[in-house]
Amino acid sequence: MTAEQILIILKKSSDFVSGELISEELKLSRTAVWKAINKLKSKGYMIESIPHRGYRLVSSADVLSKNELHPLCHTKMIGNHIVYFESCSSTNDEAKIGDLHGDEEGTVYITDLQTKGRGRMGRDWHNQEKAGVALSILLKPVISPSQILPVSLLAGLSVCKALEEVTGLPCQVKWPNDVIVNGKKIAGILIEMSTVGEMVQYIVLGIGVNCNNSSFPQEITSKATSILIETGMPFPRKQLVCKILENFENDYFKWVEELDESKSRSLNAIPPSYLNEYKSRCINIGHEVVVHQKDLTFNGIATDITLDGELLVTLPHGDERVVLSGEVSVRGIYGYV
Ligand code: BTN
Repeated sequence: MTAEQILIILKKSSDFVSGELISEELKLSRTAVWKAINKLKSKGYMIESIPHRGYRLVSSADVLSKNELHPLCHTKMIGNHIVYFESCSSTNDEAKIGDLHGDEEGTVYITDLQTKGRGRMGRDWHNQEKAGVALSILLKPVISPSQILPVSLLAGLSVCKALEEVTGLPCQVKWPNDVIVNGKKIAGILIEMSTVGEMVQYIVLGIGVNCNNSSFPQEITSKATSILIETGMPFPRKQLVCKILENFENDYFKWVEELDESKSRSLNAIPPSYLNEYKSRCINIGHEVVVHQKDLTFNGIATDITLDGELLVTLPHGDERVVLSGEVSVRGIYGYV
């Protein structure tokens, strides 16, 4: 906290700020100021210190704290309230705790190091300090649990578009919401929800993006990629986070609006404009897929996405299956992704 307060003071001035002034303003000893400055330096902030003149912020660090993100994010509701952790086990868990404490819809929980990140189907989500983006958004739409699939597809599509816009890399989606670049996974989404009676109480939308990872554990090397690996250059994560929040907010607001206007339509339906865009980016369609569900694995050709967001798969003997959940591997240039 002290370091963050000092940062705010340094950011306000383009010139040196004396240690004396900082210690007076924050009612801290000079040693405490010096220690906090060192902490900021260890996080990657470049701070010039000159005896008798004080401290000057030369450049900021790639840290995803509230103070770094707020000035860059132009959203109305998502990210109004940002809760930052230098490290935490899972941002999805922090969001659930936040809901218990009465946090508002749109609160974003974000960390620079997630120590026990979870993926879909009970898998781990690989993390490397300051290499990835790990964030969760608390949402409280007035919907029933059966409407969660459209939210899941919509989230995948908006992260996909945000990544493409800021990096220039051609991005696709793999049903339901993985983001794929060059046949490998670059981002994943884990949606968890709590229900009360027939209705959703909250949704936690957990988003993980591989940004500056230079490598991955051997077991996922052939399937995972990062912005750094694809472009050969490190990418500023702050910019990406803000684009994701802005894009998602836009799409989420439109979806909620359409839901209100379309009471006569199937409540689960995805707005046609999203569905068409989703389909045009979906790598499953027209490809051989293997579907892994709880007690069942089958293969076939994915042919389409229904109005409600399910994946249609034609089995080898011609029957059609409607897939509502599960893990779907797609045969691509690197084998199955
Ligand atoms: C997947 O593709 O399997 C989903 C990965 C989701 C990872 C994110 S990182 C932020 C949030 N917190 C978690 O523990 N998981 C999600």
